[in-house]
Amino acid sequence: IRVAILYGGRSAEHEVSRLSAANVLKAIDRTRYEVVPIGISRDGRWLLQPASEAVGEGAGAPVSEDGVEVALLPGGKGRLILASHKETDLPPVDVVFPVLHGPFGEDGSVQGYAEIADVAYVGCGILASAAAMDKDVAKRLLREAGLAVARSVTVLRGDVGSFQEIAGALGLPFFAKPARQGSSFGVSKVNDRDGFEAAIETTFRYDGKALIEEFVEGREIECSVLQRADGSLTVSLPGEIIPAGKHGFYTYEAKYLDAEGAVVKVPADIPAAVADRARDMAGQAFKALGCEALARVDFFLRADGSLLVNEVNTLPGFTDISMYAKALAAIGIGYSEVIDALIEHALA
Ligand code: DAL
Ligand code: MG
Repeated sequence: IRVAILYGGRSAEHEVSRLSAANVLKAIDRTRYEVVPIGISRDGRWLLQPASEAVGEGAGAPVSEDGVEVALLPGGKGRLILASHKETDLPPVDVVFPVLHGPFGEDGSVQGYAEIADVAYVGCGILASAAAMDKDVAKRLLREAGLAVARSVTVLRGDVGSFQEIAGALGLPFFAKPARQGSSFGVSKVNDRDGFEAAIETTFRYDGKALIEEFVEGREIECSVLQRADGSLTVSLPGEIIPAGKHGFYTYEAKYLDAEGAVVKVPADIPAAVADRARDMAGQAFKALGCEALARVDFFLRADGSLLVNEVNTLPGFTDISMYAKALAAIGIGYSEVIDALIEHALA
């Protein structure tokens, strides 16, 4: 089975994707799969990378410009063509594994491209990918399914409303987040009017739509959901992200740049009843957004034991510090087995 592993890409999460891909490339069973690594440059070109490339500890998978530029042929059942429009003599790939985060990878774009190319792909379909990527749309669907979410207002570039209005509605502090972005890029905590101006400017650098969300005092709890080829769901025990040190919240720096920025604790030290509720809600959120194959569902757990769904990630990080694989490993499903299940699901 030939598996094209896509990583890098045009989104702000390019580097994170390369770290995720390094782990996938390490864990994938090479006796079962022939790996075709495709590094996507920051400007979106698909560059074929050597399959054997060993990736050093803690390093991202390479996106070398030496790679031949390729594309998927529309209707080509996975046939790769040279971007110079001449067909390569490469055999077609059987499945595409987008190890991509954020816009162009996690938002339905590359999924649509795979549909057009008539090739199987790992993960959620177009609609679920797009819906989960858009925090505004996702929250509407989650709310409609009866799941608790943080209060928020959605604002557009040029139509933001006043600080006073927002602070009146949500209290202080609050968060400003780009609607379609991951890894906390463009997210700010707002304490006052000046902070608000700066936060709005930052968020609109990433997306013309933003979510202004109430600050939720609570712990960050996450569940991994893995769907088997037969449709059954496995939901992990919740893990916890414990932000440490100087970061006011779980920022990009705390996530990836500061080794002591946060601690990932699996399973989370929470009462069994709360864990059960989180797992149940994770399954419901997965279904509410129409997810398939995998997702990581993130929650806030408040001191009174109530849970709010924060977001659903359809291509969660697979980096060394990432929760998705760790939480599944804690219930006995190892990294390679996760990859097998995902590929099996894609091909079913
Ligand atoms: N967006 C990052 C990769 C995550 O959710 O893990
Ligand atoms: Mg995310």
